[in-house]
Amino acid sequence: MNKTSLCAATLCVVVIGVQLVGCQQGTPDVLVPTTKNVDAWPELKSPVERDPEIEARIDNLLAQMSVEQKVGQMIQAEIRWVEPDDVRDYHLGSVLNGGGGHPGKVKHASAGDWVALADAFYEASMDTSDGRLAIPVLWGTDSVHGASNVFGATLFPHNIGIGAAHNPDLVRRIGEVTAMETAVIGIPWTFAPVLAVVRDDRWGRSYEGYSEDPEIVRSYAAALVRGLQGELGRDDYLDDSHVLATAKHFLGDGGTDNGHDKGNNLAEEEELFAIHGQGYVAALESGARTVMASYSSSRGLKMHGNRYLLTEILKERMGFDGFIVGDWEGHSEIPGCSKMACAAAINAGVDLLMAPQYWKPLLKNTIKDVKRGDISMARVDDAVRRILRVKLEAGLFETGAPSSRSYAGKTEILGAPLHRAVARQAVRESLVLLKNNAALLPLDRSLNVLVAGRSANDVSRQSGGWSLTWQGTDNNDDDFPGATTIFEGIREVVSSAGGTATFSEDGSYSDRPDVAIVVWGEPPYAECYGDLKHLNYDAQDPQSLVVLENLKADGIPVVSVFVSGRPLWVNPHLNASDAFVAAWLPGTEGDGVAEVLFKTSAGEVNYDFKGKLSFSWPKSLDQNQLNVGDVDYDPLFPYGYGLSYAQAREVSDEFSVETGEAYLNYAAVPAGFSCIG
Ligand code: BGC
Ligand code: BGC
Repeated sequence: MNKTSLCAATLCVVVIGVQLVGCQQGTPDVLVPTTKNVDAWPELKSPVERDPEIEARIDNLLAQMSVEQKVGQMIQAEIRWVEPDDVRDYHLGSVLNGGGGHPGKVKHASAGDWVALADAFYEASMDTSDGRLAIPVLWGTDSVHGASNVFGATLFPHNIGIGAAHNPDLVRRIGEVTAMETAVIGIPWTFAPVLAVVRDDRWGRSYEGYSEDPEIVRSYAAALVRGLQGELGRDDYLDDSHVLATAKHFLGDGGTDNGHDKGNNLAEEEELFAIHGQGYVAALESGARTVMASYSSSRGLKMHGNRYLLTEILKERMGFDGFIVGDWEGHSEIPGCSKMACAAAINAGVDLLMAPQYWKPLLKNTIKDVKRGDISMARVDDAVRRILRVKLEAGLFETGAPSSRSYAGKTEILGAPLHRAVARQAVRESLVLLKNNAALLPLDRSLNVLVAGRSANDVSRQSGGWSLTWQGTDNNDDDFPGATTIFEGIREVVSSAGGTATFSEDGSYSDRPDVAIVVWGEPPYAECYGDLKHLNYDAQDPQSLVVLENLKADGIPVVSVFVSGRPLWVNPHLNASDAFVAAWLPGTEGDGVAEVLFKTSAGEVNYDFKGKLSFSWPKSLDQNQLNVGDVDYDPLFPYGYGLSYAQAREVSDEFSVETGEAYLNYAAVPAGFSCIG
């Protein structure tokens, strides 16, 4: 095929055959001239049967809508910057609350507060005075590990931990519980699942992905969508206890160059599909009706402006007839666009623009774009048709005010004991035992246990980002009623059988303990704030190694419980620990950890370890991209690794602690990448 690439500092033109694919200002440096290979993608058919009655209702609505009303449907504002009256006056189709967005800006907002606000938006959208058309507003939220923005909700382990559990049935249950707790606050739509296949663990969103392995992501995508939405074709599909799912972020978010958030994925189409596209096949086949565009670029083209992948591949080739929602101001990153104006995103195929703050200028400019012909009426009608289709399928026109739905406002469902039991099971199954020398674990309940480390008694640290606040920071334990820290779980277990548990963050003690459990690891972060230059854990927290080594020097058996959003280079810490558990980000049910670490009171194994790595563990610091199937694959612990009590094994006490050149090259720079955008 005939390919040409003409690049200047601010202008880049790529010609494929005779077709112009991109012509943008400020295009990222690495713009790979592309061939189009539609055959690399599967031809799919939407499993949701077209309903002639729904399509006729859409025709009827479209025929009555002005340009203003149509464009209004295509804009989503955030509750911190929009009032119910705006929804009425500007015909807004959708609202969201982003991470840390709560009714009245109060993070302890009750279920009743959420539902009251949802009602207010709904009533405004249904107001027919002044000849308005009544079209129910659709509210979306990030219920990404449980209803994670809601005070009192059950928070599940982040996806990385669920990936280690290798249990699609459990994922489905998690989806059901998440949907129900989201239904309690009157919101019918979540921005989940994340289907990123994470290829470079320096990425700050690694923990939002299930695995580096597309197979796991594919099987979990189906399970979570089914859990969230109910089973297509069954009565429970999108009923009052279920919510719409969003497959995100399309496409290639987990494979950006250097693991840079919002970065550039350089994969050719075959690889893009084989690795990053797998989850979408399963999500679409399971009936996901919304897909979120990725902030990232594919071979230099921002996904929000990538007509080929959004329209020709996702919608046309893969038969997706729900709608594409943009990410938070994602349109503004297309060269030539701003937060307030962006015909290019709509022309590329984004149907609903997430415009949290600048929704009003964006709305006005988009109306102008349509009137000027920069966006065709056919494109607008297609976008609105898709949005209305999903609203009609979800029954929003029939269910009435959010408060009239069966579970709305039922506070007792948030963090219900049965839901917490599912989360505790998820915690138990997510734990991966990396080392257990001299069969130190499982421990007797009668021991005197020293519990140390910054993550031992802190719900925020064990929950990570996207927990009540966007970054998961600025919270304390009172912000998570009903939650249990890892230390509290240990204390409960040992005190039931004559043992003791003493918490001492720095590991100091006056009475010599029988064993020390040190719970240490990463602080909470989200998105680019979690990007790393290198995987050397010690560089972000030198103190934990000191605690481990001091205890070891005192001759006390040491169990490490590592709380983190990804595998990191921790060879010195492994050497200083007799047993080492990767606990990921367990969420609110920290007691699941003790249930595995300790025997029953009768001295039997209580729960064995089930977790197996869904991410490869690095042996050296140059292994930023370390994935099963690599040529020269040489991890410290391979994909699928995980010891159990049933299959005990000794591992080295002398892993290399050489940080090598890779680290020295980075040592001068601060750990985090700077956030862009
Ligand atoms: C929001 C998040 C959003 C982020 C994007 C935050 O203020 O709460 O939901 O993802 O901004 O920058
Ligand atoms: C994130 C999305 C999220 C959205 C809304 C963005 O910054 O990338 O995953 O759904 O914010 O909070």
